[in-house]
Amino acid sequence: MNEEIKNSEELAKSLNDPILRAEYAAPFDHYRPLLISQLLGSLLVYSGTLIYGQKPTYAKFKAIEVIARIPYQSWEVAAYTILTTFYSNEHRAIELTKISAFSRMAQDNETMHVVVLSQIVQRLHCQSFFRHTFIPFFFSFFYFWTVYILFLFSKRAAFDLNFLFESHAYEQYQKFLDVEGERLRQTPVTSDFLAFYGRHVRNEYELFELIRNDELIHRNHSVRESQSASY
Ligand SMILES: [Fe+2]
Ligand SMILES: [Fe+2]
Repeated sequence: MNEEIKNSEELAKSLNDPILRAEYAAPFDHYRPLLISQLLGSLLVYSGTLIYGQKPTYAKFKAIEVIARIPYQSWEVAAYTILTTFYSNEHRAIELTKISAFSRMAQDNETMHVVVLSQIVQRLHCQSFFRHTFIPFFFSFFYFWTVYILFLFSKRAAFDLNFLFESHAYEQYQKFLDVEGERLRQTPVTSDFLAFYGRHVRNEYELFELIRNDELIHRNHSVRESQSASY
């Protein structure tokens, strides 16, 4: 496990403490994203609720996680594109390289979420090909280019949109833990990919607690990027 992943694993584990988590979340709990991001974010959450329902379920999480990886790939590719015009500006090059580094790490983290959730839904036979595989895959194509274009014209808007997506994911995982907690504690987790990633949990409760914390880290990081963005 590289140093950065190790640090973010430690942060994710520390956020299991409700007091620490509340302190970590508080500065951005009332963050107001740009209007364009609010419009796109509402459309995103509304469409998701329409297709997958209000209630958090394994299959809904799998669909969410397929889509959740996309902005980080877009950021990385867009940062790479912009970097071609800023080779001679070291300050901008450092700023863009830092975004690329975080987005690569977040992609790996979201990939772990989607692989583990795919194993669970496959085992439980609780997904439909059209709703949980085809739609997220098809939607991802448009989402990728929307975020890419947004990033080129307003990095802040791209980060703010991700803040809204991650806030929604964070709330959905918390709701799932609140409602299904007892059952999740009784359900063991076996995943080679999780062990390969370097994460070890005893049951689904511990798995979903850490995934919830990951989404909170992504949410806060999106705001920090937005606040330090030059445009
Ligand atoms: Fe995720
Ligand atoms: Fe996330």
